[in-house]
Amino acid sequence: MLSKPPFSTGSLRPVPALLTLSLLLVAGCSDKVAGLQAATQVKDPAYQNAAYAPDGKHPSIAELSALGRQLFFDRSLSGSGQLACASCHSPAHAYGPPNDLDVGLGAIGGQTEGGRAVPSLRYLQNVPPFSEHFHDSDGDDSADAGPTGGRTWDGRASSAHEQARIPLLAPNEMGNRSPADVVAKLKRAPYAAEFRRAFGDDVFANSNRAFAKALMALEVFQETPSEFYPYSSKYDAYLRGQVKLSRREVRGLAVFNDPNKGNCASCHISTVSSEGAFPAFSDFGHIALGVPRNRRLSVNVDPSYNDLGLCGPLRTDLRDRQEYCGLFRTPSLRNVATRHSFFHNGVFHSLREVLEFYAERDTSPQRWYPHGADGKVAKFDDLPARYQQNVNREAPFGRPSGDKPAFNARDIDDMLAFLKTLNDGYQLPAKPRPRLAKRWVTAPADTPRTCSRSCEQRQQNGRP
Ligand code: HEC
Ligand code: HEC
Repeated sequence: MLSKPPFSTGSLRPVPALLTLSLLLVAGCSDKVAGLQAATQVKDPAYQNAAYAPDGKHPSIAELSALGRQLFFDRSLSGSGQLACASCHSPAHAYGPPNDLDVGLGAIGGQTEGGRAVPSLRYLQNVPPFSEHFHDSDGDDSADAGPTGGRTWDGRASSAHEQARIPLLAPNEMGNRSPADVVAKLKRAPYAAEFRRAFGDDVFANSNRAFAKALMALEVFQETPSEFYPYSSKYDAYLRGQVKLSRREVRGLAVFNDPNKGNCASCHISTVSSEGAFPAFSDFGHIALGVPRNRRLSVNVDPSYNDLGLCGPLRTDLRDRQEYCGLFRTPSLRNVATRHSFFHNGVFHSLREVLEFYAERDTSPQRWYPHGADGKVAKFDDLPARYQQNVNREAPFGRPSGDKPAFNARDIDDMLAFLKTLNDGYQLPAKPRPRLAKRWVTAPADTPRTCSRSCEQRQQNGRP
């Protein structure tokens, strides 16, 4: 389980934006709630001690974040002039895709298809840099959780900073030819003057440096708590003791956590860490689930193409590691009920179907996979046979074909209800008005107000 931000907590300078926000959030709550609230905040911005931290001029976090926001929404930064980061990572959709396409569409006129589903950018602030041997700081240090962390579905970018290079330069995303290409656009942008103010008048003189600054501004924007980790779901309110879950939601959570039923929480962590950090609903581990090949994708028209995650072809440093083929980073399930495409290749379009896949992948494989030339079900059809042993077979998987699934249709309904409690933007129910106040409100305007003794007393004291 993850609890600590992976980066150093040694501070070079104070973090005013984050501090003010956590103070605002905790104001007016009970001590226990305040403690839990504070625990949901990130201590330092990731770039704090990084090699690419600002040289020369030191803009404030507020300046960087405001600049990063403009970059994030700027369509002119794409080769086609039509795509901004926000076109794929829409703020109205938890910074996930605004549509039900299987995968992201980019480049010229938004026509070139990528091979992967667009992830939400929320709750990534504690994703550790990629490591093959992850040791949990929360529990037994000697336990090796295996490959964990990194940005993107295969963890190939070590930070949001490094990550932003990918879409800006990828031909199937924003399609710029080079950093200099991006910087030429920055110079013409309406916020060019702000960019100079933040980083110095000569910032555009060296395009590699200017490009690095742009990436940093994007990264800092992506660490804005209110936008990227608001912790404003019903489940968060429940963890803070502010609201109860419905009976159906409680049952769904129990199936989700039960090691013999959903066993979901073994990868999609659901509990507050020992240090009080709220769960991201992912341990960010890399796992092969053997999801069906998405035959609608243009990359998959070539039968010899397989997206093998950790072992390539998009990621190249672990190409020779057979045991890593088919592994993808476990996504957070926060806001998952707002998505319309699921898994790294966007093969499913309904959350119910995803849960049915978990229940029946092994018990009814014929429902999920096509038949091979030999007439048998070609299970794990997106993985060459030699890699199929990498597929996870722990609960809820691992039951023989024809057996009863680990959870049933009612469990699925309950889990669907529970998963909706992970959507941000939950409004706490209005506090029931005191009975007296209600009587006042409902009394016709011309009837004299009735007031009890204690009410009269309060009125004398100047309170309602
Ligand atoms: C054409 C659609 C598209 C655009 C435009 C786009 N992205 Fe993405 N983004 C994706 C896809 C698809 C992935 C998953 C890539 C992968 O796994 O290889 C992704 C992954 C990411 C991730 C990693 C998330 C994680 O879970 O680790 C970050 C961060 C990110 N994008 C930020 C940005 C930023 C910043 C921009 C603008 C500079 C941007 N994206 C533009 C489609 C897009
Ligand atoms: C062994 C670890 C593991 C377990 C157990 C597990 N998951 Fe997952 N989950 C993953 C991984 C890894 C992915 C991404 C797989 C891929 O795309 O290839 C994923 C993807 C998902 C997605 C798609 C999210 C998205 O953004 O596309 C949902 C929904 C989901 N899991 C729900 C569940 C539920 C519900 C359970 C319990 C029934 C569960 N998971 C159990 C590891 C796990």
